[in-house]
Amino acid sequence: MARKRTAATKKKRPAGKSPAVAKESGRHQAAAGAVELSIIVPTFNECENIPVLADRLRLTLPGVAWEMIIVDDDSPDGTADVARALGARDPRIRCLRRVGRRGLSGACLEGMLASNARYAAVIDADLQHDERLLLPMLAKLRADEADIVIGTRYAEGGAADSFSTKRKWISLLATRIANKVLGLKLSDPLSGFFMLRRAAVETFARKLSTQGFKILLDIISTAGKSLRVAELPYQFRSRHRGASKLDTRIALDYAGLVLAKATSDLLSLRFIFFCLVGIVGIGVHFVVLSIGVALIGLSFAWAQTLAIVVAIANNFALNNAITYRDQRLTGVNYLVGLLTFYLISSIGALSNMSVGNWLFGHEQTWWVAGLGGAVMSVVWNYVISSMMVWRSR
Ligand code: GDD
Ligand code: MN
Repeated sequence: MARKRTAATKKKRPAGKSPAVAKESGRHQAAAGAVELSIIVPTFNECENIPVLADRLRLTLPGVAWEMIIVDDDSPDGTADVARALGARDPRIRCLRRVGRRGLSGACLEGMLASNARYAAVIDADLQHDERLLLPMLAKLRADEADIVIGTRYAEGGAADSFSTKRKWISLLATRIANKVLGLKLSDPLSGFFMLRRAAVETFARKLSTQGFKILLDIISTAGKSLRVAELPYQFRSRHRGASKLDTRIALDYAGLVLAKATSDLLSLRFIFFCLVGIVGIGVHFVVLSIGVALIGLSFAWAQTLAIVVAIANNFALNNAITYRDQRLTGVNYLVGLLTFYLISSIGALSNMSVGNWLFGHEQTWWVAGLGGAVMSVVWNYVISSMMVWRSR
């Protein structure tokens, strides 16, 4: 092993290497030909933008051994084909095409994990981020002044003039919330433009969310104080071509991430939705019960049974459509999921009763006992159904 390393080190200054290769590898390279910087470009419908970005990278990174990894989520506009065509002409460019998945954060994470370089940068494809910042970012990492360098729009020298007034306010508000709730002091925690020591990501890759837009915020808040952060200002430009993908769902994902991180992953947005669906379910239960007893004239036991059956089906449908919309079950899977959900909920109801009775025996306050039982069954239903009905994270 030691001998191998010596050989590799010696290779660093080869006598007869072509000047072009020697220049490309640069003095910071560990081994000849190795890539020092992977530039991860997440794309969804960016076919017109990536050739321009590739051209700009070629100009802006002289003497750096870089590669461009375009992580495309099967864009209907054929971004992956364009990316591959670029790669055919320039071997520093490659495409990682993901099928059946969507998500900026997940795309960035997979890009970084597919890299073998010492440093990785994430930059948007639409040219809103100033690629000329990449070189100063790299300089900071090389000088070991930081583990992660963030491009910021909201520090002196930075700007987000291309934002509409509405978007500027939303962005500033979201920044405030992130800093306050997560105890950060970053000028632009929602930046999608940063560079880091790639090894840092490997350490906690499993803990990062693959949904939504907030990969940087997630990395910083998951890493805690273990990462030294530096910021460099830049001017956020207008989108070159195409349209933004930020929508309400992305905003909700963001709220979920803040909530999860603020409560040390105890509360997730999913859990909140699950509870809200549960509350709607109680309403449904009472509507069916009263219709059964008062309108149809069923006995209480029958009306109650009917109400339970309908309420559980209602909760399943709502959770499938809202809480787990990203893993929505259809067809046979829907039926299997529903039956499993019935089973889980029945055990949940039994545990509700036993915990409630036990608490009432000790506490004698009906609402404390009732609440305890309800909390028990909600947590049970949530945990078990996330394991058995909607399985992936
Ligand atoms: N692979 C993949 N999958 N890429 C995606 C997806 C996705 O689901 N959604 C968006 N992207 C890509 C876009 O193609 C683009 O290259 C980049 O991610 C940013 O998406 P935009 O749609 O241009 O986002 P934006 O300009 O509204 O948001 C920017 O500013 C935010 C803060 O205001 C981004 O830089 C965000 O990261 C940043 O948080
Ligand atoms: Mn954009």
